[in-house]
This record gives sequence, structure tokens and C-alpha cells, in this order.
Amino acid sequence: MLELTTPKTVLVIGATGKQGGAVIENILASPQAHSFNIVAVTRNATGRKAQKLAAHPNVSVIEGNLANVDDIFNKAGPVWGIYSVQINSDVEEQQGKAMADAAVMHGAQHFVYSSGDRGGPERSPNNPTYVKNFAAKHAIEKHLQQRAEKSPQQMTYTILRPVTFFENLTTDLHGKGFARMWEQLGSKKLQMVSTKDIGWFAAQSFLQPDKYRNAALTLVGDELTQPEANVIYKEVTGQTMAMAACPIASAVKFVLKGSVGDMFKWFEDEGYGGNVQECRNANHNMQDFAAWLNENKGNFM
Ligand SMILES: NC(=O)c1ccc[n+]([C@@H]2O[C@H](COP(=O)([O-])OP(=O)(O)OC[C@H]3O[C@@H](n4cnc5c(N)ncnc54)[C@H](OP(=O)(O)O)[C@@H]3O)[C@@H](O)[C@H]2O)c1
Repeated sequence: MLELTTPKTVLVIGATGKQGGAVIENILASPQAHSFNIVAVTRNATGRKAQKLAAHPNVSVIEGNLANVDDIFNKAGPVWGIYSVQINSDVEEQQGKAMADAAVMHGAQHFVYSSGDRGGPERSPNNPTYVKNFAAKHAIEKHLQQRAEKSPQQMTYTILRPVTFFENLTTDLHGKGFARMWEQLGSKKLQMVSTKDIGWFAAQSFLQPDKYRNAALTLVGDELTQPEANVIYKEVTGQTMAMAACPIASAVKFVLKGSVGDMFKWFEDEGYGGNVQECRNANHNMQDFAAWLNENKGNFM
């Protein structure tokens, strides 16, 4: 006999962005996709990506802004799960905490928070770091854990702590600047991950909430110096990785000291602490740099 269950509604913040988009793709690609309704949040429902999402029968798109989380929840109606991600800004901490508060108030059962690694599973919980947006994520994590623990519905959570995204490597000036700053790290390896794999782990957290209940995971797919990555880049694209001039990259780190500059300094001083093999054991399709580049080489050739 066919078992009929009510689909679970998952609210996805940043649905038109890299991570949120990957979360939705991974849920929809799973055999249990029919068990989920996705409410995708965007500030502009008429945008191309929002319209594409809205075309899927399991997805409804709502307009909302993290500056007003109650409005988002009121429009979404009852939600079972939440994928929460914020943009780096002076209000990141405030908006991230407000999402946790609203989730508890609106009776959500499972909250997936996309944070960032701060030195692996041992160090991250008690290491805000001197990087402003890392510290904001640390504060949001603590707030979420406290609110979930005391919530009347006993809301559970999964904290995802990705390292640097492969997607920072673009062909525009941002990507070239990133490549140069990576090169300026010298022999220090940088841990990286694809946003596709963040989406995979987020989707698993919703598909198997008991397995990922109150867990915190550092997500990493590869660890490379820029010269090591450049060898792979040449093999895959036939070209050398384009980099901004050294003085430009150094000037950006100086001018944006509170964000980019401090972050690259932290990569040198401390650095991420993820375990590639552990991630691969959980996700057999976890992308290393070569796999990510092969999938995206059209953007680089
Ligand atoms: N880049 C890295 O290497 C890295 C590594 C670890 C962690 N992170 C963290 O990842 C986060 C960013 O995630 P992402 O790269 O997936 O972002 P993204 O691709 O830039 O997408 C962010 C999405 O958020 C939505 N958005 C922006 N402002 C909003 C607001 N005020 N209210 C509601 N929605 C808003 C936008 O959607 P609409 O335009 O449709 O509204 C956008 O599509 C940051 O917290 C960053 O620190 C990044």
C-alpha cells in the first residue's frame, strides 16, 4: 500500500546564491525529493534564478529580506526545516541570530546553519578568531545552540563549517586577486571545498536529521598550495592560472584589512583544520580541485 506522509517544508535562505542553490539541487536530486516542499527566499522573485526555481513543482519562491526575518516566516507559513546563510556584513551576526530566534518562535524542528571553519572540529567551537566575519559566525553558532537547547519544540541543528570555496576562482579581477593572494601564502596549503558539496551535506542533514542531529562538520574537499593547484589547472585547461599583479593583491589586503587582509593573515597564522578523507568517507563524490575544475572548465577556457 502507498504510504502517504505530509511533505516537510524547508525554508532556504540565499536560494539564488551558490550555497542555497546547491542545497535545493541536492534535495531535489534525492530519491526522497517528493517528501519535501522547498520555500526559496530571494529579494527579487522576478529575477532569472528565482524564476527558474519557481518553475519546479516542489519549490515556491517568496520575497524576503534578512533585515526582516519575521516577514520571511510569516510569508513562508509553517516550516519544518531551515537552511540559514548570511552575507558578510556588519549585520551578519544580528541577522544570523534573528534567524535562530525566529526559527524557535515559529516551531521549526531542524535548523541547518552554514557557518565557516575556524581550525577544525577541536578548535572551531572556542575560536572566534580575529577575522570579523569568522567571529560573527562563532557568535551565531553559540546563540543557535543555546536557543535550540532551550526551545520548547527541542529544535535540533546541524552546523556546517565550510572552508574556502573553489568558486572564488573566477576569471574576473576578483578571481585573479584571489589566485594571487593564494600564491602569496607560499608553501602554506589552503583547504578548499565546492559549494556543490556544501549542498550535499546540507541536503543530507534534512534527509537524515537524526544522523546529523546537533552535529558540527568541517567541510573540505582538497588542500593545495597555489603552485600545486596551478599544475592541475594547466592539465585541465591547458593554461596557467591567471593572477592579479602582486601589488594589487597586497593593496586589496591592506585596504580591506578587516575582512580579506585578516582572513589571509589567519590562513598563514593558523589555518583551517578539516579532514579531507573524513569528508570523502561520508560523501563519495566529494570534489577535489581537479574534479571541480573538470566540471567547471567551460568557465576557464
Ligand atoms: N567564499 C568563500 O570562500 C566562503 C567560505 C566559507 C564561508 N563563506 C560564507 O558564505 C556566505 C555567503 O554564501 P554564498 O557564497 O552562497 O552567497 P552568494 O552566492 O553570494 O548568495 C547569497 C544569496 O543571499 C541572498 N541575499 C543577499 N542579501 C540578502 C538579504 N539581505 N536578505 C535576503 N537574502 C539576501 C541573495 O539572493 P537575492 O539576490 O536573490 O536576494 C544571494 O543569492 C558568507 O557568509 C561567507 O562568509 C564563504
